[in-house]
Amino acid sequence: MKKLGWSLLIFVFPIITLCTCSSGNGASNDEVDRKVDSLISLMTLDEKIGQLTLYANDLNPTGPQKTTFCENEISNGRVGGVFNVLGTDNVYRLQKQAVTNTRLRIPLLFGFDVIHGFRTIFPIPFAEACTWDPELIKKSATLAAKEATAWGLNWTFNPMVDIARDPRWGRVSEGSGEDIFLASLIAKAKVQGYQGDDLSAPYTMAACVKHFAAYGAPIGGRDYNTVDISERTLSEVYLPPYKAAVDAGVLSVMSSFNELDGMPCTANKKLLSQLLKDEWGFKGFVVSDWTSVKELTAHGIAKDEAHAAELALKAGLDMDMQSGIFSENLKKLVSNNLVDEQQIDNAVKRILRVKYLLGLFDNPYLYIDKKRQEEITASQEIMDLALLEAKKSIVLLKNENYSNSKLLPLKKNLRKIALIGPLASNRINLLGSWHGHADTSIVKTILESLSEKLPNTKIEYTQGASFTGTDKSGFNKAIQTVQKSEIVICVIGENNALSGEAASRSNIDIPGVQLDLLKELIKTGKPIVTIVMAGRPLILDWLEENLPAIIFTGQLGTRSGDAISAVLTGEYNPSGKLAMSFPRNVGQVPIFYNHKNTGRPFDAKDRYTSKYIDVSNEPLYPFGYGLSYTTFNYSDLVLDKQTISSTDTLKITFTLKNTGNFDGEETCQLYIRDMVASVTRPVKELKAFKKVYLKKGEQVIISFTLTANDLKFFNEDMIYQYEPGEFAVFVGGNSRDLIEEKFELL
Ligand code: GLC
Repeated sequence: MKKLGWSLLIFVFPIITLCTCSSGNGASNDEVDRKVDSLISLMTLDEKIGQLTLYANDLNPTGPQKTTFCENEISNGRVGGVFNVLGTDNVYRLQKQAVTNTRLRIPLLFGFDVIHGFRTIFPIPFAEACTWDPELIKKSATLAAKEATAWGLNWTFNPMVDIARDPRWGRVSEGSGEDIFLASLIAKAKVQGYQGDDLSAPYTMAACVKHFAAYGAPIGGRDYNTVDISERTLSEVYLPPYKAAVDAGVLSVMSSFNELDGMPCTANKKLLSQLLKDEWGFKGFVVSDWTSVKELTAHGIAKDEAHAAELALKAGLDMDMQSGIFSENLKKLVSNNLVDEQQIDNAVKRILRVKYLLGLFDNPYLYIDKKRQEEITASQEIMDLALLEAKKSIVLLKNENYSNSKLLPLKKNLRKIALIGPLASNRINLLGSWHGHADTSIVKTILESLSEKLPNTKIEYTQGASFTGTDKSGFNKAIQTVQKSEIVICVIGENNALSGEAASRSNIDIPGVQLDLLKELIKTGKPIVTIVMAGRPLILDWLEENLPAIIFTGQLGTRSGDAISAVLTGEYNPSGKLAMSFPRNVGQVPIFYNHKNTGRPFDAKDRYTSKYIDVSNEPLYPFGYGLSYTTFNYSDLVLDKQTISSTDTLKITFTLKNTGNFDGEETCQLYIRDMVASVTRPVKELKAFKKVYLKKGEQVIISFTLTANDLKFFNEDMIYQYEPGEFAVFVGGNSRDLIEEKFELL
């Protein structure tokens, strides 16, 4: 039964009626609602509209600067929140204006894009996802909040949970990759990390899940482009991570720039009201993305800005970021009976509720404490976690023998290393595109860190090539440096500008002439370890075919240098697993592991099957892939039942053995396949994973469980349910190299 023209999203996640977060100051949800209602009853229409308006501090724009923010609008009660304000002094100055100069003294929200850290930067979210460690990611969000709130901020525009299957899209750097299950766990972890158990504490902040919805599926991978996907794909692939954030109690949602099914998300009533607020029970507020209300005119659904304001508010948008359109038009829309004041009250209530939950009415200066700012910024606790997460984000892609031994980890007695490439001695470009208010002075380069770890080794660095352009004038010096060395470490990839927002690339090769440089260096015959840093999967087919050792790091943040040198020297055995498939060439895109089988699955013996005639269907590196300095063997996969009822629990066990010469951590992955169903099903679906640390030679029996609930999907009528039939279950260290068994659901 179609309830709303869209799927009735009854997820396995428990539907919560209200934000489960406590306000900390003990006020129950009812008490908060009473306080909000009584405050609204005192407010004028102007004051209400003021709460629906959010401006960027124009010193630090994170989008096209269409509206200059005037501080006196705060004193006039025409502003509900400000973002990109830096420093407790500035936050204090603006908050003081709001709570002393306005009639009702309503405090401001102070937002910021704390995407992966604030002053101390953690790995970009795409790299974080490669840790497959939600608990660790939750800790990084907790500490990012601790640092950002010490600077007076109380709201972050994160987590970004947009599923991405197209690495041409620059914002894959900000998300958790291609898989629904992993991205949903990370979404929940980040909301819990930012908001904590006590929202009114000075070290927790409101989170904002974004960009709602399906922003990661633009046609052509081109940022801001049209999203046109089926209801099933939307419900099954793109919505679950947002739902996980809502069920975790996220206090705000950001509407996305894109249209969806012909309606821009910022004015999409089915999405913002019927699904998010009515069906999912979301009690926080919906904020637009940067001027996305204004952009309804460019989309062609609003004839002018007043019409845009009307459409957005009526659709369920509560706060207008940066366009000023609510501020300029809502009052007149009410007087012309085009907008009902009750709709404005509904929006104001949601926003004021969050301010109460944050404790801002009890103490508007709660987050302002210069001493905390100094004590907490880049504290040892934060720096240590940034290092741990950076190390665990690193993915070893290849480490094959080079003249009878593996290049990694580096030998202890090396005398001369050539360190080459634009990222080997660089700070800002280790931080990724959304690097908050990063303190680059605390970033240690790879050159600095490696020199510290290998004091008796001469490390000679030269850049060789830049990130972009065709200048090869640095090649000769690089070749000469390499010729004098025993081994080469080449650190190449993207700078911050080549990924992130408004940075889609039609060609995802290693940029500039860096690959040409590698091809020159290999001619020297010296062994080359290549480290690739990027905000997205790149095309690495030549590296895979020609080089013995390859590491992919994403962009690891403040502690990049120490993390990478710890892996190079063997101090840390790499354990990362790719959160996205790496294509062989951009023509394969979109490419993802949980694809359908089609009626003509590839068969090498049959021409008339689904394939390219110039490249394999398979990615260069599959989702979930990552090597270790040791090796792990999976064996003895056993199911405790061959058939299960809808109430049974299936127990899956297997033996994992560390068969190599290093202690190491493996992420064991469990996938299923529904062999026959009323609609086509993916050839694999990730349903569980476990991180297991084994000493060399050690083996252990690992177990997973599955129930019928784990086998649900949307049937032909878009009802979320399971169906009897045969299932395959797979376990392994990535989505390709697996051992398999079958069972039947009765
Ligand atoms: C940007 C981004 C969004 C960010 C916002 C505020 O355009 O799309 O992710 O939170 O503006 O900086």
